[in-house]
Amino acid sequence: MKLWAGRMSGEVDERLNALNASIGFDSRMAKQDILGSIAHATMLGETGVVSAADSAKIVAGLQGILADLESGALEIDMTCEDIHTFVEGELTRRIGDAGKKLHTGRSRNDQVALDIRMYLSDQIDALVARAKALAAALCDVAEAHLHDVMPGYTHLQRAQPVTLAHELMAYVQMLLRDIDRLRDCRRRTRVMPLGSGALAGTTYPLDRQRVCELLGFGGVTANSIDGVSDRDFALELLADLSILMMHLSRFSEEICLWCSWEFRFVTLDDRFSTGSSIMPQKKNPDLTELVRGKTGRVYGDLMALLTAMKALPLAYNKDMQEDKEALFDALDTAQLCLEVLEPMVRTATFHAGNMRAAAAAGFINATDCADYLVGKGVPFRDAYGITGQLVRTCIERGTTLEALPLEAYRAVSPAFDEGVYAAIDLLNCVERRSLPGGPAPSAVARQIADARAQLAD
Ligand code: ARG
Repeated sequence: MKLWAGRMSGEVDERLNALNASIGFDSRMAKQDILGSIAHATMLGETGVVSAADSAKIVAGLQGILADLESGALEIDMTCEDIHTFVEGELTRRIGDAGKKLHTGRSRNDQVALDIRMYLSDQIDALVARAKALAAALCDVAEAHLHDVMPGYTHLQRAQPVTLAHELMAYVQMLLRDIDRLRDCRRRTRVMPLGSGALAGTTYPLDRQRVCELLGFGGVTANSIDGVSDRDFALELLADLSILMMHLSRFSEEICLWCSWEFRFVTLDDRFSTGSSIMPQKKNPDLTELVRGKTGRVYGDLMALLTAMKALPLAYNKDMQEDKEALFDALDTAQLCLEVLEPMVRTATFHAGNMRAAAAAGFINATDCADYLVGKGVPFRDAYGITGQLVRTCIERGTTLEALPLEAYRAVSPAFDEGVYAAIDLLNCVERRSLPGGPAPSAVARQIADARAQLAD
């Protein structure tokens, strides 16, 4: 029998039921639904909308349901339409008529808006903790590789020398922004919609501020129509998760590349690698490939909800029930990816020698060679041309700028002397880039300290 039996016979076609019922997924919000109802019932008692005795009975009944769900003594009845129906039905089964007063001055429309806001805000807290753990792991690994020179790339071509620490800290900066975005979204999520009713508020003298206080929310929604039809906070979270996943995917792509025999910059621990069913020699980075692959489904979740919302007339429409599966999928995906990347990062072995060898082979100190000539009074554009000639000579002779004899340098410009070798030494190249944000070990050490301070707050 449906909650809304009365107007109608109460029985619907089983096929409509399959389409309409949300208990299969919204049962995840059981705890939030009960805690929201406890706050509502407490306020109903305090304002005298229901008697103090009934309010106390309802609150105790709801607390019992929550305890029994948590202990496993009570199972959710999956034949109910949704989690709200289940909780109210179970309450009335337990405490009788007082249970029927819980929904006074409330609609499932403002109720579900509250439940999602509570659920998402809990999930954001969990996500922030996981993003912090990954960022902390990256800081620790970076600290151990402050002096390990590697090629920095543009266009995936060796460009200029950086360090592994500097490269890893770039991802920490992304994660810090992700965390900041999630916290910002949390602020807009913790706005209390109860009192909006179905859409037009209610005639009962509800104390909305009191419910807000009981739930620890930041404020109450300002318009009852908006209160039941706003899902901006859900879209923001999906957008934030999409950006987060894009970051994890870029990092994953680099790890995939670095695991290849072509790079050989990193070896993943066996516990975080997989094999092939046919090729005995294979050790595959499935983990990072999956993080990269799963990014697409989170984008899909964002597009699904944006599309569901785009032409909805005010106020609540059942289309909005589609928010939950998209949100849950995106949250589960992002949580899992963060959770598995952290130990992968901590247990990976980075091959500083291979990075250094790659850095030595790519003429990535050519800019420094030109800058050296500028220091000798040669205009930059000429210095650039002279260095280009030297690189060509090196390629012809199969050598590097470091190994090229001084006569070869002096043959193209008399401005060169012995000092050029110090100027193009890779570690020197890195160390001289010590401005804030640069790759010099001293600058990256400061960056790590700043990031850790932000993670601690
Ligand atoms: N299951 C619904 C949802 O997730 C709850 C709200 C139902 N409201 C209604 N008027 N049918 O959106």
